[in-house]
Amino acid sequence: ALDLVLGLGLGYLLGSVPFGLLLTRAAGLGDIRAIGSGNIGATNVLRTGKKWLAALTLLLDAAKGAVPVLLAAWLWGSEAAMAAAVGAFLGHVFPVWLRFNGGKGVATLIGVLFGLNWVLGLIFCATWLLVALVGRISSLSALVAAATTPIIAFFLEGPALALTIAVLAAILFYRHAPNIARLRAGTEPRIGGRKAEAP
Ligand code: G3P
Repeated sequence: ALDLVLGLGLGYLLGSVPFGLLLTRAAGLGDIRAIGSGNIGATNVLRTGKKWLAALTLLLDAAKGAVPVLLAAWLWGSEAAMAAAVGAFLGHVFPVWLRFNGGKGVATLIGVLFGLNWVLGLIFCATWLLVALVGRISSLSALVAAATTPIIAFFLEGPALALTIAVLAAILFYRHAPNIARLRAGTEPRIGGRKAEAP
């Protein structure tokens, strides 16, 4: 049980570092939460026009998911790795440092998936890319990939990991509520499209 608490704590601590917010602030772009969708993720950082900053946000938000999962697996075993995955995801979405108001969880989910089983990470990215090539909407791609992953996890790893990822995917959907409303209204901005209005 202590292993699970340690995994969860390590995950949360690393996951709660808001890289999108820190990088855009360091680059002198002001508060990312006042731009576009108001989200602190790579998609919204891209709306500042700084592609390399968006790529770095994606990379670091994914790394902070993968690193605690791999560390916990190495130190304490596979159940602690699952706890670290949950901790990192919750840390990103509900960081204590931002009054529990963080990101939407896409990049960090990709990171924890790569840490748990790289095939899962790869399938998530392939699904995201496929839907993005057709629809050119970041949120739609994330929603489709997140819905697919628990099913793949069930066949690759069994019910425990599938259920864990399903819970994370459900939280991801909940955090995309404004995006889902815009998708239904046909007003969700496309990748590389006109800059979105402030929320
Ligand atoms: O990374 C979150 C993405 O799925 C949507 O981001 O800024 O368009 O709400 P955004």
